[in-house]
Amino acid sequence: MNIVENISLKTYNTFGIDVKARFFVEITSLLQLQKVLELTAYPEHFILSGGSNMLLAKDIEALVVFINLKGVSVVEETENEVIIKAMAGENWHGLVLWALERGYGGLENLSLIPGNVGTAPIQNIGAYGVELKDVFVSCEAMNVKSGELLEFDKDACQFGYRESIFKNEEKGNYIITSVKLKLTKQDHQLNTSYGAIEQELHRQNIVHPTIKDISNAVIAIRQSKLPDPKEIGNSGSFFKNPVVGRNKFEKLQKAHPDMPFYETSDDTIKIPAGWLIEQCGFKGKRIGDAGVHDRQALVLVNYGNATGKELLSLARDIQKTVKKEFGVELKPEVNIIK
Ligand code: EPU
Repeated sequence: MNIVENISLKTYNTFGIDVKARFFVEITSLLQLQKVLELTAYPEHFILSGGSNMLLAKDIEALVVFINLKGVSVVEETENEVIIKAMAGENWHGLVLWALERGYGGLENLSLIPGNVGTAPIQNIGAYGVELKDVFVSCEAMNVKSGELLEFDKDACQFGYRESIFKNEEKGNYIITSVKLKLTKQDHQLNTSYGAIEQELHRQNIVHPTIKDISNAVIAIRQSKLPDPKEIGNSGSFFKNPVVGRNKFEKLQKAHPDMPFYETSDDTIKIPAGWLIEQCGFKGKRIGDAGVHDRQALVLVNYGNATGKELLSLARDIQKTVKKEFGVELKPEVNIIK
C-alpha cells in the first residue's frame, strides 16, 4: 500500500478536471481497504472509482481512496438464470461485454455507460428503458467507520430515479465493494420499447433482435449523441430530468405544444431537461473550454482545460435561465465537489 502526495486527478475523472489530491492511495484488496480506513493519520477519505459521475471543483485535501478491486464470477446458476458477482473496480461496460460474450441477458440496454461497477448502485444507473435495479440482487459495502462488510439487498438500497440510500441517508458511510446481479441465460426479457432502439433496429433491418443486437443498437445511439469521455471530458447527463405536477405540466404544454414528456404517474410528468436547455439556447454553447454538447444539451463538456468552477458556473447559468423561462428547477445528477 503506497500513499502518494500531490497528484493530479485529471485522468481519474471522466470530466478530465485537473485538481490535485493531497494524498492518494490505490486499493486492490478488501484487506487493504480495511487497513486504510484504520489509519488515524488520514481521518478524512474521499472515495473514487470510475470518476464518471462527479464534478471536481476544488483540490481534495482528504486521502483519496481509489477503489481498484477486480474480479467477476458466477455465484449461482440454474437452467434459466445466473447470479454474477462483480467487484467494484470493474469497468461497467467491460462487465456488459463479459455478460454478452456468455449469452447472459439483462445488461444490454445499459451498454457503454461510463464508470465502474461499484458506482452503478449509488445512482441506480439507467438508460433506454432499463435501470440497474431491474437486474440487481444485492451489493456488499464496507462501513467506513468500522471496516465491517454489510450486504444491502434491493429493498435496502431504496432505489429511485438516479437515487439510492447511498446518495441519501447513508451518504459517505459506506464504500460499495461488490455487486450481485441476476441475469438470464435463455428466454431473455428484451426491452426494445424505447423509441430510439426501435428506430435503430429498424434501420439495421433487424426484426428478431438478440441481446447482442440490442447492445449494438444502444452503442450506436449513444455514440451518435453522447461524447466519448476519452475524447471530450464529460460526465453524461449533468442534470436529472425534472418531474412536475399535472397543473404545471398543462400550463407548460399549452405554451409549448411540441414539448416532449413522459408520464411517470397519474399526476407527475417528467420533462427532458435536454429539451428545456436547448430551448434556452444553450445547446453547443462554449465559454472557454467549458461547453454544452452540440448533440445532447443535457451533457456538459470539458474541451480540454476547463476548471470545475467554470463548468459549475455554466451549470448555474443554465439552471437560472431554465427557471426563468419555464419555472422549472433543474437538479444536478452529478456529484459536485466544491
Ligand atoms: N432532447 C432535446 N434536446 C437535447 C437533448 C434531448 O430536445 O439537446 C429531447 C429529445 O429529442 C427527446 C428527449 O429530449 O425527445 C429525451 O432525450 P434522450 O432520449 O436523449 O434522453 P434524456 O432524457 O436526455 C436520459 C438519461 C440518459 C440516458 C437516456 C436514454 C437522465 C438524466 N438521462 O436522457 O442517461 O442515456 O435517457 O435512456 O435521465 C446519464 O444519466 O448520464 C445518461 C446519459
